[in-house]
Amino acid sequence: MNVKDAIENRRAYRSLAEIKITEELINDLGTAAQLMPSCFNKQPWRFVFVYKDPQLERMKNEVLSEGNLWAKKASMIIAVFSKKEFDCVIKEREYYLYDTGMAVGSLLLRATEMGLIAHPIAGYNPSKAREVLNIPSEYNVINLIIIGKKDPIIPDNFTSFQLESEKNRPPRKPLKEFVFHNTFSS
Ligand SMILES: Cc1cc2nc3c(=O)[nH]c(=O)nc-3n(C[C@H](O)[C@H](O)[C@H](O)COP(=O)(O)O)c2cc1C
Repeated sequence: MNVKDAIENRRAYRSLAEIKITEELINDLGTAAQLMPSCFNKQPWRFVFVYKDPQLERMKNEVLSEGNLWAKKASMIIAVFSKKEFDCVIKEREYYLYDTGMAVGSLLLRATEMGLIAHPIAGYNPSKAREVLNIPSEYNVINLIIIGKKDPIIPDNFTSFQLESEKNRPPRKPLKEFVFHNTFSS
């Protein structure tokens, strides 16, 4: 699969089936993140790949928000965390979220290329996640990534919104709303 196809095929699907988690898979996804650029090569991203109980079970039962119960079918949950001090701070510009986001973007595309679903979520309890995963409080738990493969049979407890976004990609802004040529115009 080329990059264009991976970009087009990547979707935040919620209908998940089980996959086997191997060290090879974790290293592959980790490498996709590792090779991304960062300010002064500071590499601020940190990941806990959670695939064994009791941690996985606790993430599902204690950490996920009500709206993300579909993610209980996850075969693995990746916790993404970092802190401001790990990356460049240039006056008002703090780069740790930006650089970590780029690393995650690459990981999502690599997962897509491998035929997996990698669905980032913000709906979870970060302090509970820190407690379950032993992440000190000074870290910002930025997101969780839900890993599995697509189950073509959509569970019947999905909301109409979830059903619709399973079938069709949620619409995007047209390019003219965010791509400007030579000068910005609002
Ligand atoms: C930072 C972030 C937080 C998100 N949080 C959630 C979430 O809590 N629950 C959920 O079901 N999807 C979540 N999503 C997925 C988005 O809803 C999804 O990417 C968006 O609707 C576009 O759909 P697509 O990725 O399939 O193109 C999140 C995505 C991102 C990047």
